[in-house]
Amino acid sequence: MCGIIGVVGRGEVQSSLLDALKRMEYRGYDSAGICVRNSGFLTCRKEAGKLFNLEQSLAKSPLAGSAGIGHTRWATHGIPSRENAHPHLGAGVAVVHNGIIENHESLRKKLIADGVNFQSETDSEVIPLLLSTELGAAEFGTVEMAEAWQCTVEQLEGTYAIVALRAKGDDCLWFARRGSPLLLGRGAAGVYAASDALALAGLADEVLYLEDGDIGCISLSNVEIHQHGAQVERCWQSMPVSEQSSGKAGFDHFMQKEIFEQPRVIADILNAYVQGVDITFPEASLLDDAVLPNRIVMVACGTSYHAALTARYWLERYLQVSVEVDVASEYRYRNPVIGPDTWLITLSQSGETADTLEALRLFKSNTPDNLALTLCNVPESSLARESDGTIPLLAGVEVGVASTKAYTAQLAVLALLVLKIAYECRVMSEADTKRHLAAMRQVVDGMHVLLGHADQVQALTPLFDDIHGALFLGRGPCFPLALEGALKLKEISYLHAEGYAAGEMKHGPIALIDSRLPVVVLAARKYHLQKVLSNLREVQARGAKVILLTDMADQDIPDNVDAVIPLPEGDSFTTPLFAAIPLQFLAYYVARSRGTDVDQPRNLAKSVTVE
Ligand code: F6R
Repeated sequence: MCGIIGVVGRGEVQSSLLDALKRMEYRGYDSAGICVRNSGFLTCRKEAGKLFNLEQSLAKSPLAGSAGIGHTRWATHGIPSRENAHPHLGAGVAVVHNGIIENHESLRKKLIADGVNFQSETDSEVIPLLLSTELGAAEFGTVEMAEAWQCTVEQLEGTYAIVALRAKGDDCLWFARRGSPLLLGRGAAGVYAASDALALAGLADEVLYLEDGDIGCISLSNVEIHQHGAQVERCWQSMPVSEQSSGKAGFDHFMQKEIFEQPRVIADILNAYVQGVDITFPEASLLDDAVLPNRIVMVACGTSYHAALTARYWLERYLQVSVEVDVASEYRYRNPVIGPDTWLITLSQSGETADTLEALRLFKSNTPDNLALTLCNVPESSLARESDGTIPLLAGVEVGVASTKAYTAQLAVLALLVLKIAYECRVMSEADTKRHLAAMRQVVDGMHVLLGHADQVQALTPLFDDIHGALFLGRGPCFPLALEGALKLKEISYLHAEGYAAGEMKHGPIALIDSRLPVVVLAARKYHLQKVLSNLREVQARGAKVILLTDMADQDIPDNVDAVIPLPEGDSFTTPLFAAIPLQFLAYYVARSRGTDVDQPRNLAKSVTVE
C-alpha cells in the first residue's frame, strides 16, 4: 500500500526520491508524485498510473532542490487521479500520508467553514490544510512548527504514517506514526523517512524504526523524537537490505526469481534452526522447554492464512492440541473467547498487515500472560516488535506482490515448530523426529527437481484459454494448498479460481463443472489418496480437463488425465512444500500468457497497512 519517502539531501534529491519510489512499487499503487523544495518554494509533480508516467514528466522538466517528499498512492478515498495523488499542499507545507484519517469528514467540514479550499477527494488532504492553519501565514521557526505539528497530529483519528516538508523556516522532515509503518534513515548523501527499508537500499547506511505514537523531525544535523510529549531515544541499526538483494538477478519478474530462490530459503532455514535433532529458534528461546498449551490460535491473512491452515493438520495430528485458525479481519471483530493457557501464533510476510497486528493487540490486551509468537519475514516489523517472540522466516526480501518464497518459508518453519514442540513435549520419539527432519532435508533437492519442470508447467497454459474459471481440489494438508493455488492464479492472472476441500465439491461447486472449467487436483499418497482419486473421476465424468499434481507411481496414475505434474514422494510435512512450486509456476505462466502485470497485479498491495 501507499509508499512514503522523504529526503533532506546534501545535493539534488529528485533522483533519490524516484529511486525510493521505484523500490516501493511492489507495495502496490495507482498514482505517484513528488514535491521538491527550492529557494523557499514547494513544487509538486504528480501523475495517475504507473511511476513511468511520473518519470516521463520529470524527464521533460526536472525538479531541482535539496529536500523533497514522494509518495506512491493506493487509492482508498477518491479515484486514482492526478488531483488525488500525494503530496498534498497547504500554505507553505507539503504532506504525504499512508493510512486512513477516520475523522476526515468532520475535519474537512470545519476547515471548509473556516474558508479553506480543498483540491482533492482524499482523507489525507486535511493534514496539510490543518497544519497550515495551525501555523498561520507567518514564517515561524522550528519551535512553533513543532507545536503546530503536534497540534495537527493530535486532531487526527485513524492510522497514519505522515511526512511533511515546509517551504521555509527549517531543513527538516516532520514525521508522525500511528498504525502505519515508518522508519528513518541516514547515509552519506542525506537523511530519509520511508515506509520500508527496501525504499532506502543504496541510500541509507543506518535505519531507525519508529514506534507507534512517535512524532518528531529529522534534519542533516539532528533527529528529535517525542512520545506522549516527552523526548525519547530510539536505536539506529545497520541497514538490513542491500541494493544487490533487491534486484531481479536476470529473471523476467521478481515472482519468478523468488520461486527459484525457494530451495535456498529452505536450506537457510534448516541450517539456521536445525542441529542434529535439536531445533532452536534463537529469537524465540521462550519456546525452549515449552509446556504444551491447552489451545493454539493462529491468525493471519491471505497466503499466510493458508500456511496456518496447513499447520493446523500437523499440530492436531502430532501434538493433539486444539487449534483454531482464523483470518485476522474476522478474528479481531468477533469477540473471540481466548481463555488462559492459549498461545497465539501470527504469520506474516511483511509484519505490517493491519488486521493481523490488531488481532495480536486484541489477544495481548485480553490475556497479557498468554504467549504470542509470530512467524515473520521482517524481524524489525511492528508485528515482530509487539509479539513475545519472533521466528524469522529467513526468506530474504520478497518483492513480487504474490507471495511465494515467504509462503514455503512459513510452511518449513511451521513444520520445524511442530517437530520441536512434539519432541520436547515427548509426544514424538527421537527416531520419528529424525525421520521427519531427514525428509525436510530432502526438500531442497526435491524443489530443485521441480524447478526443472518449469517448461512442463508452462506448456499447460493453453488449458486456461477460454475458460470460465478454475477449480483446485485437495484433502487434508493439501486442501489449504488448493486454496493457495486458486489465490495465486486469481491474483496475478485475473481469472476466477476457487480452492475447495475435495470432499466438499459435491455440495455446490460440482454444478460449475464442464469442459471450460479446468480442475487442478492435488493427490498425495499421504493424504486420503483413494478418496481424492474418486473426486477426480467425478470431475472427469462431467467433462472437465484435469491437471493432476501427485507423488503416485506412474503405473497408478488414473487414465485420461489431461496433464500430470509429478511431485517427489513426500512425508506428511514435505508434500505441501513440494506442491507449492508447480502451483506457483502455473499461476505465473498463465498470468504471463495473459499479459498481466505479474509483479504488481492490479488493485493489490504487498503490505496491507490499512484494514
Ligand atoms: C497473496 C499474498 C497476500 C498476503 C496477505 C498477508 O499472494 O501475498 O494474500 O499473504 O496480504 O500479508 P502478510 O503475510 O504480509 O501479512
